[in-house]
Amino acid sequence: MSTKKRTLLKVIILGDSGVGKTSLMSQYVNNKFSKQYKATIGADFMTKEITVDDTVVTLQIWDTAGQERFQSLGVSFYRGADCVMCVYDVNSAKSFESLENWRNEFLVQASPSDPDKFPIVVVGNKIDVEEGKESKRVISEKKAKSWCTSKGGLMHFECSAKEDINVTAAFEAVARFAVESE
Ligand code: GTP
Ligand code: MG
Repeated sequence: MSTKKRTLLKVIILGDSGVGKTSLMSQYVNNKFSKQYKATIGADFMTKEITVDDTVVTLQIWDTAGQERFQSLGVSFYRGADCVMCVYDVNSAKSFESLENWRNEFLVQASPSDPDKFPIVVVGNKIDVEEGKESKRVISEKKAKSWCTSKGGLMHFECSAKEDINVTAAFEAVARFAVESE
């Protein structure tokens, strides 16, 4: 008989349009990647079950719309969150600068009891893009890490949804972080 605990964690993915939020979720849950861009409308979730130490975790991963005109998430949507993944594209300065807004937006809407301790994981996506091709990297890992440190030590991962680099590690860190914060 299993003595494992069970828990359900709600994870919300936030970030500018086109940074790869849907792609990260789809790579993590279904091992699928599509080159085609299809804007997310509103929000939708997928689930995945993983084990963290002695806890069986059902990750309920909510993918949200980066495009403002598709956003219609109420306060109650944010309040149920156990962890937030804030995504930027390492090849887009604008998407990195938006992190501040996404984090603030979440903290204002969800108003967690201890905002400085709320589990937020920052993900820099599209590290596979080669110099001189589609675009080139403008946000160094050092720059991103220093911003994360300035916000009280947010966890940081660099990923590629396309090449499946670090995607599992990022979501597992999210789960672990949330379990440990419960
Ligand atoms: P919204 O739904 O509008 O908020 O966008 P999103 O953040 O969900 O972006 P999405 O996952 O739809 O990806 C946008 C585009 O970037 C698509 O054409 C993807 O194929 C591409 N893309 C996503 N992740 C990567 C990656 O890691 N590397 C590369 N090269 N392209 C990626
Ligand atoms: Mg999307």
